[in-house]
Amino acid sequence: MEHKTIQFSRRNLLGSAAALAGTSLTGISAAQAAESAEAQKIRPLTGKMTYEEVRNRARQMMMPRCYVCPECNGRGPCIGQVPGFGGMGASRGFQANYDSLAAVQLNSRVVHDVHVPDTSIDFFGTKISMPVIAAPTGGTTYNMGGKLTEAEFVNAICGGCNKAGTLGAVADGIGDPLDVYEKRLQTLKKNGYKAIVGLKPRLQKDIMERMRLAEQAGIIALTVDLDSAGRAARATKGQTVEPKTPEQLKELVKASKLPLIFKGIMTPDEAELCVNAGAAGIVVSNHGGRTLADTPGTAAILPQIADKVNGRCFIMVDGTLARGTDIEKYLGLGANCTLAGRHFVRAAHGGLDDGVALFANRLRDELAVAMVLTGAQTVKDINRNMVVIPH
Ligand SMILES: Cc1cc2nc3c(=O)[nH]c(=O)nc-3n(C[C@H](O)[C@H](O)[C@H](O)COP(=O)(O)O)c2cc1C
Repeated sequence: MEHKTIQFSRRNLLGSAAALAGTSLTGISAAQAAESAEAQKIRPLTGKMTYEEVRNRARQMMMPRCYVCPECNGRGPCIGQVPGFGGMGASRGFQANYDSLAAVQLNSRVVHDVHVPDTSIDFFGTKISMPVIAAPTGGTTYNMGGKLTEAEFVNAICGGCNKAGTLGAVADGIGDPLDVYEKRLQTLKKNGYKAIVGLKPRLQKDIMERMRLAEQAGIIALTVDLDSAGRAARATKGQTVEPKTPEQLKELVKASKLPLIFKGIMTPDEAELCVNAGAAGIVVSNHGGRTLADTPGTAAILPQIADKVNGRCFIMVDGTLARGTDIEKYLGLGANCTLAGRHFVRAAHGGLDDGVALFANRLRDELAVAMVLTGAQTVKDINRNMVVIPH
């Protein structure tokens, strides 16, 4: 059992930022830091660990892809790092997610009899312990630095989320050939994990081929991240993605028995198109600011989308979710469930499945406290009266 940690310091972060930019304040370049990490054969923590230790170990594992900044707000050294862990362009879409969520406040209500709230929800027929699941995140090598194998990563995300009573996620990275996707599904199936699978907006026949494979792995639901249809993704290793027409959305919905959720919806009119196509759900998401640069933050546009959908499909949302209060805010703005991406990835690198379970349980505990302090006995009781929306 290992408990050695490094302390985060401003100097450490500045040095890393400078190294990324090709200079060095500390005398250590990013390349040297990476080499020295490799030389030390740093591995995720196992056994008993604290959340701070998980974050410190994740920093050692992931630099220079991710610096595990005190706040993950899109303003760290990862700006513009896609592939990597940052956002597109100046990372303004990533920053907008953080800023729009930070601008929403919670109304404290303490005259009631809510003592032990129920944080569980029904997710397409499966009871989960809290309204947050793992977001699909792909690219262990080109996005995360390659310190975990594909199998380790799937085991960490899905095993950890399942330990905490919620769902993991498996991605279909645009840069990954079919056999990599198949191996991820094999890990899922072998271990009987409860998870969702995220598909790329490939050609219809290629999506359908991957749908069949996902169905055989016994998963709960599928997402297609429509927002990955951009130029950068198209150019990757000859694999083709495309924007979808309303007819193509309908075709995809009909093509699988699994609930199909369209991810990357950022306007009420496109939410309406998804509802009309028969989608089981949508994810209000700008892909963590990683596809189209300079989009608004998800918390800013969620209420208008929720009003438009008006209960006709399941609404999910993601964007810099780090705390239980963030879950309550997103639900107060109209979501039925949330996803967390980067924070789960970091927890996986810091402490594998135990690190992921630690983070998930922390979210659940924080949500329970927030529900008591806002007077929500169940997740369905969380409503717009509980949030203050900026004008
Ligand atoms: C490294 C990385 C890889 C990602 N890969 C995928 C993917 O393959 N499919 C997908 O739908 N979204 C992908 N996403 C987007 C996430 O699912 C999520 O929408 C986004 O990260 C916002 O959540 P966050 O702010 O909690 O990270 C990826 C995000 C990151 C950071």
